[in-house]
Amino acid sequence: MQIWRFLMPSTIGFSFRMFRETLFDRLTGAPPLPLRVRDFVAEHARRGDPQDVLEIMDRFATEIRFLMNIGPDKGPLVRELLARLPGNARILELGAFCGYSSILLADTLGEEGRVVSVELSGAAVEGSRANVDFAGLSDRVEIHHGSSTNTIPNLEGSFDLVFLDHWKDLYKTDLEVIEANGLLHPGSIVVADNVGPLFGATEYLDYVRNCGRYDSENRVATVEYSSVPDAVEISVFRG
Ligand SMILES: C[S@@+](CC[C@H](N)C(=O)[O-])C[C@H]1O[C@@H](n2cnc3c(N)ncnc32)[C@H](O)[C@@H]1O
Repeated sequence: MQIWRFLMPSTIGFSFRMFRETLFDRLTGAPPLPLRVRDFVAEHARRGDPQDVLEIMDRFATEIRFLMNIGPDKGPLVRELLARLPGNARILELGAFCGYSSILLADTLGEEGRVVSVELSGAAVEGSRANVDFAGLSDRVEIHHGSSTNTIPNLEGSFDLVFLDHWKDLYKTDLEVIEANGLLHPGSIVVADNVGPLFGATEYLDYVRNCGRYDSENRVATVEYSSVPDAVEISVFRG
């Protein structure tokens, strides 16, 4: 990722906030963010109320510390896509972090839907599982601890929607592994977050737009909890 993207006039304020908050956490020896969010949710949210849990996480992200959740700007876009899916849809998510998007996805799908999430960081696995449990959605969300690239080949069945939201330089190679393992069916929707100018996901965008296996559409958005331009790529697998 090129550092200059974070120093553009449209991103400098956001980058400064990230730098200031990260430095403060380092100097004060703060616990990992997902565990802080877990404790904040347990203290402030209503147990068993997914929407309230999301709002409390939004509060943490705006008042205390930036969080790389999908957030309240792009959340409705994801909800709109889910309306195209059957109630018993299966979703694969790469990158759980604090469980925000797992909760949003599982809550929107309803009782029959299932979310399988893969998360590399142990603290994020612990925090996201706790938040999903607090929201009352543990029976619909399964969070695997491991790297996406190692975990994907062990997954079975196919997914109606894949949500790519881990490290951006893995989007293309992991999507290829997902395809190679037969985890998509014609009509599966692949949603890639953070493909806007800040993140420079050109290799991924070139792949889904030009490989001939997807109908791909770009939706303009802003980076969560900021006014920095961003985008989400929505690609429907042709088979
Ligand atoms: C942007 S955050 C995910 C946010 C979450 N989807 C949400 O909207 O609430 C990215 C997460 O991906 C995880 N991650 C990074 N590389 C990964 C990999 N190779 N496999 C699985 N998870 C990974 C990070 O630890 C981090 O928690």
